[in-house]
Amino acid sequence: MIKISPSILSADFANLERDIRKISTADYVHVDVMDGVFVPNISIGLPVVKAIRPVTQQPLDVHLMIVEPGRYAGRFCDAGADIVTMHVEADTEENLLSAIEVIHAKGKRAGVVLKPATPVSAVLPYLERVELILVMTVEPGFGGQSFMEDQLEKVRAIRALIEERNPDCELEVDGGVAPDTYRACIDAGANVLVAGSSVYGAEDIPARIQLLRG
Ligand code: DX5
Ligand code: ZN
Repeated sequence: MIKISPSILSADFANLERDIRKISTADYVHVDVMDGVFVPNISIGLPVVKAIRPVTQQPLDVHLMIVEPGRYAGRFCDAGADIVTMHVEADTEENLLSAIEVIHAKGKRAGVVLKPATPVSAVLPYLERVELILVMTVEPGFGGQSFMEDQLEKVRAIRALIEERNPDCELEVDGGVAPDTYRACIDAGANVLVAGSSVYGAEDIPARIQLLRG
């Protein structure tokens, strides 16, 4: 069963509530938090997560593209995140492991994210401790970029590790997921697909979400 997590980075920020309702058939709502330091873009933060929390029952899948995400993980849980994912490149192993514990203590799901240049081995310290691993299939920072085919090998390798050591862990891909790329992601072992421009740019959003499920 494939889950779809539309990214509200492609929504109309002046009409967020309306645009979150447009994706009500999706499994998660993907929220991209960017600080202008870890990535060259600034998007949204804690107050917006808090504001959208009452608008939907869907789990909020919060992707932190910020430096030292461990410092903020607990606060994003308090703001209403259900899943908090942190880049392995953005903090120390020690800080990330303690942030994962903080997220769990708040009853939420924790995940780690790998940028395209980051090797599979970077996931090993967290593999048995997280509920989700996110493989970036574009350079983080912007929506609407082209899918990086070369990341499929990483997805396959992490799927094999998950099967062996943490079979309940979800494997998510993010970036350039569209009608021409989603199938390869599923075949490589992803079970959660993030999609921004290909969902919000579709004429019929529920039909597009259904298509991406495979
Ligand atoms: C990129 C973000 C993505 C982005 C995906 O840094 O993490 O979630 O919104 O957008 P698309 O699906 O348009 O590539
Ligand atoms: Zn994202």
